Amino acid sequence: MNKKITLIPGDGIGPDIIEQAVSVLDALAQKYNHRFEYTSVLAGGAAIDAQGVPLPQASLDACLASDAVLLGAVGGPKWDNIPGIRPEQALLGLRSGMKVFANLRPALIFKQLKNACPLKDEITEGGLDILIVRELTGGIYFGERGRSGNEAWDTEKYSAAEIERIVRLGFKAAEKRQKRLCLVDKANILESSRLWREVAERIKTDYPSVELSYLYVDNAAMQLVRNPRQFDVIVTSNMFGDILSDEASQITGSIGMLASASLGDGTGPGLYEPIHGSAPDIAGKDLANPLATILSCALMMRYSFNAETEACAIERAVERVLDDGWRTADIAGSDAASLKAAGKLVGTKAMGKRVVEALKNI
Ligand code: IPM
Ligand code: MG
Repeated sequence: MNKKITLIPGDGIGPDIIEQAVSVLDALAQKYNHRFEYTSVLAGGAAIDAQGVPLPQASLDACLASDAVLLGAVGGPKWDNIPGIRPEQALLGLRSGMKVFANLRPALIFKQLKNACPLKDEITEGGLDILIVRELTGGIYFGERGRSGNEAWDTEKYSAAEIERIVRLGFKAAEKRQKRLCLVDKANILESSRLWREVAERIKTDYPSVELSYLYVDNAAMQLVRNPRQFDVIVTSNMFGDILSDEASQITGSIGMLASASLGDGTGPGLYEPIHGSAPDIAGKDLANPLATILSCALMMRYSFNAETEACAIERAVERVLDDGWRTADIAGSDAASLKAAGKLVGTKAMGKRVVEALKNI
C-alpha cells in the first residue's frame, strides 16, 4: 500500500517519540513492501510560537488530505498564561475538524509489567483488558458556554444521532471482544443521559450477542478500582470518558504504554496518539518511552489501513522487546538499579531501535 501520513510532533516529548515511531513505520514499510509518505505539521505550543495560533488552518488541511494522522503530544507550562489561547485547543480543533467522534482507549496490563499495576494482585488476577469508547466531538466540550457577571455555564447537549453512532461503535467493538458493553452515564440526574439510555435500548436488538449494562459514572469510577475485570467495553460521553480513561490507564500502571485511536465514519483519516501527555520536564533528554506512540501506529494499521498482519507485527515486536527485559525509566519500577547494572535501562532512541530490530525478526 501507498499511504500519506501526517505527523504532528507537537510539544515536549512529542518530537522525541514521533521520531521513533517513524523509524518503526519505516521498518514496517520495508518489511511488507509499503510506502509511507510523511508530512510534518505544527500544532499546539509549537504552532503558537511559530504562527500565533494552536491549530493553523494549513495543519488541519494537511491532516484532512492524508490517510492517517499521528500525533505526539501538545501543551506545556510555557503556554499556560496566554489570554484566550491554549495549546489544547489544537486537540479540540483536530477532533472536530477531522470529525473523529469516537475515541478508543484500550486500558490493558502488559503481563511483563504487571508489577507496575497499583492494585492488589487478587483484584487483577487473570489480567485486565478494558476498552473505553469515548464520544469525542460533542457534549460539554463543545456545548454552548458563557459568562454573565459572576455566573458561568457550560452545556451538556447530545442529539440522538450523535449518541446512536457512538453506541453502535461500542456494540460493534464488544461483538469482537468479550461481548459485554457497559454504558456509563448519570441518568439519575441528567436528561441527556436518559436520552443515551433510550437510544441504547432501541438499538440493542441489532446486537443480540452483546450483553448491555448501565452504570452511573460515580459507581463506575468506584468499580474500576474495586473490580475492574467486570468491564469489557465501556461506552460513554466526552466528559465522563475523559475522566474514566485516565483512571483506567492509571490502574494498569502502564500509562507510558497505552495507545489511542480517534475515528470518524470511515470516510476520513483517523487520528492516532499515545494517551500520555507532553512531559515537558523530560523533553529532548532521550528519556521518554516511545512505546505508546509505536503502539498507536499498530492501531493505525488496524483501523485506518485494515492491515491486521502489520498491526500484529508491531504489537509482537513490542512484546518481544519487553520479554527481553528492555525498559525505559518510566516502566522500570523498583528494578531500575538492577536494570541499569544489566544495561537494560534504555532511552527513547535505544528503545525505538530495539523495536525496529525485533520487527525485522517477526
Ligand atoms: C485527553 C486530554 C484532553 C481532553 C485535554 C488535553 C484537552 O485530557 O485527550 O483526554 O480533555 O480531551
Ligand atoms: Mg484526558
